[in-house]
This record gives sequence, structure tokens and C-alpha cells, in this order.
Amino acid sequence: MNVNGTDYRTVWMEGNTVFYIEQNRLPFAFVIKEAITYQDCCTAIREMQVRGAGAIGAMAGFAMALAWVSAPRNTAGSLVPCDESTHQDSCMEYIRNARTEIEATRPTARNLFYATELVFEAGMRSPEEALAEAQRVADRDASDSRMIGEYGNSLIRDGSRILTHCNAGWLAFVDFGTALSPIYMAHKSGKNVFVYADETRPRSQGARLTAWELFQEGVPHVIIPDNAGASLMARGKVDMVITGADRIAANGDAANKIGTLEKAIVAREYGIPFYVAAPTSTFDPGCASGNEIVIEERSEEEVLYQEGPDADGVMHRIQVCSPGSHALNPAFDVTPAKYITGFITERGIIRPEEVGCRI
Ligand code: MRU
Repeated sequence: MNVNGTDYRTVWMEGNTVFYIEQNRLPFAFVIKEAITYQDCCTAIREMQVRGAGAIGAMAGFAMALAWVSAPRNTAGSLVPCDESTHQDSCMEYIRNARTEIEATRPTARNLFYATELVFEAGMRSPEEALAEAQRVADRDASDSRMIGEYGNSLIRDGSRILTHCNAGWLAFVDFGTALSPIYMAHKSGKNVFVYADETRPRSQGARLTAWELFQEGVPHVIIPDNAGASLMARGKVDMVITGADRIAANGDAANKIGTLEKAIVAREYGIPFYVAAPTSTFDPGCASGNEIVIEERSEEEVLYQEGPDADGVMHRIQVCSPGSHALNPAFDVTPAKYITGFITERGIIRPEEVGCRI
């Protein structure tokens, strides 16, 4: 990704320090923050300073590696975290507790668990292996996203008007993104593309993050209210829908940001292709159907209040709902496989009925 002429990743590690773009400050301020402990990484994920399936996965992998690095161990040698039975217990207890803490930050994104599993196993060999594995997880996320862009671009015709929901761009991954990666490739290859970015209440990832990314990339776009998609589709103004995913079950049901399901149903009604762009690391073969996907419930505060800067750039939180009323805030919904035209993955386009055999 390119921000004001400089190449960035959303999250990266140098030495034993993790650097990341603080997404809560965007689009009003571009701030890089540092995490030096696995607990710092957990806070960044929990507070959605780092968000989006692939970025969360990379951050969780780095967190797991930092846990291995900081685990108590004896002086026998750095490659063996603990080699005396008493110490081994305390070391493994520390590591297991760290893994539980990391995995409790956000329950829905498959990539988080994919990353902790790989880095946990690598750390059993040595802390250095854990660090190397975490780096591989991050690198793979970036290269998968690039391939998703290439395969997805083959589906986009010149002049396409594409609707997307939430933010599945470079900010949601280590680089390139998923739903937006094909759009960037299409734009760079000279095709005319136009994007409708759903605002995506309550946190407005579409209005704040997708719109900011598209602006940085020079892609023509407009932000639309969450409830405008059906009308645009009914009036023939949308040629295709591309969204990301947070977890995809073995039967092809896909969990994504709340509001995705209704776009998929409406797209089917009007014969508009509905694609889900996601790396294979988002597919969960251990999850038989969408019914098994845990849907994160977030604080009602996100619905009841909004944040933004005043004319001097000072951030304020304002109440936007009737005082005294409570809010319900499910963060994701599940789109049944029958509404999905295809999955755009780093291995090519996969039809929902092929998920079981190709992943
Ligand atoms: O709650 P978030 O912002 O972490 O939600 C994840 C998402 O960004 C979306 O669901 C996205 O479309 C898929 S993950 C890139």
C-alpha cells in the first residue's frame, strides 16, 4: 500500500517490536503505533486499532511469537523454552494462557486462530522459529491478497460498478486486501471501475477506511448509506458485489460484517453476481456450516455514539441515539452458500459447492 508516497504494510515486525497503523485514527490522522508485548498486541486487536481478518491474523501471529520470546525459561539454552519439569510447567502455562488471551480478543475471524496455531506449534521448537513463522504468516497474507487481486481482476469488466461492504482492503490485511485488491488491479490495468462503498454502521469501516483507501488509490467511488444498496441494485446501477469474509465454513457459508447477508439476498433477487474474496487461511474446514460460527457481540456504545474531529482536529464522541435506549450490536452475519456466486482466493475462483474438496 502506498500512503503519501511511502510503502507500508498494515502491521509488521522489526526485531521484537510490532508496528501497526492505528486504524481508529483514520481517516483523520495517519498514526503508526508500536507493540512490544503480546498484551500490547491483544489490546490493539481488542480495541480495533488493528482490524480486518488478515491484519488481525498477522497481529495475532506476532503476539504469539512475542509470548514465546517472553516466556520464562531456564538458563540451559535459548532454543528450549524450559527444560526442567518445574520450569516447564510454568513456561507452558504462560504460553497457553497467552494463547487463550490472544484468541479471546476477537472470536469470529478465522485468521486469528490460524495464526496462533501455526506460531504456537513453531514455538515448541524454539522462540526463533516462532518469530520466523509469524513473519511467514504475515508474508503469506500479503502474497495471497496480491493473487486474489489478479484472479479477481479477471472477473471485472471495463466500466463495472461494484458495491462493497465494510473494509476488506489493504488496511484489513497485511497488504493489497481481498475485496478491494481486484478493484485496485482493474484500476491499475486501465479499466474504468466505480465503487459504491457501504458506510457500514456502526463503526463505519466503509465510510472511513474503504473510502480513504480508494481515495489514496485514485479509484472513483462514492459512500452510500447502508440502506441504499437494494435501491441501487433494483435500478440497475450495480454490476457486481465483492465483499470480504471473516470465516468460511466447509459448506461455503461465509461470515462477514453485519449487513452483508442482506446485500447477498438482494443481489440474488436482481441477478447480480455476489463474490466473496478471501484467502484459503480464512476457510475453516473444522466448521461444518455457518451455524457453528461464533458471532462477536460488541458493545452497545458503538451504536449509541459516534466519534469524529471538530474543525480543529480534536476528536469528540457524540451521542446519536435516543438517551435511555439500549442497542444490540452483533458484529457479523452469515451468508448462506446458495447466495454466493464464487470465492475469489489465491488459488483461483472457487464455487461454493467446491469448497469442501478444494480447500
Ligand atoms: O470488525 P472488523 O472491522 O474487523 O470486520 C472485519 C471486516 O473488515 C469485514 O468483515 C471484512 O469485510 C472482512 S475481513 C477483511
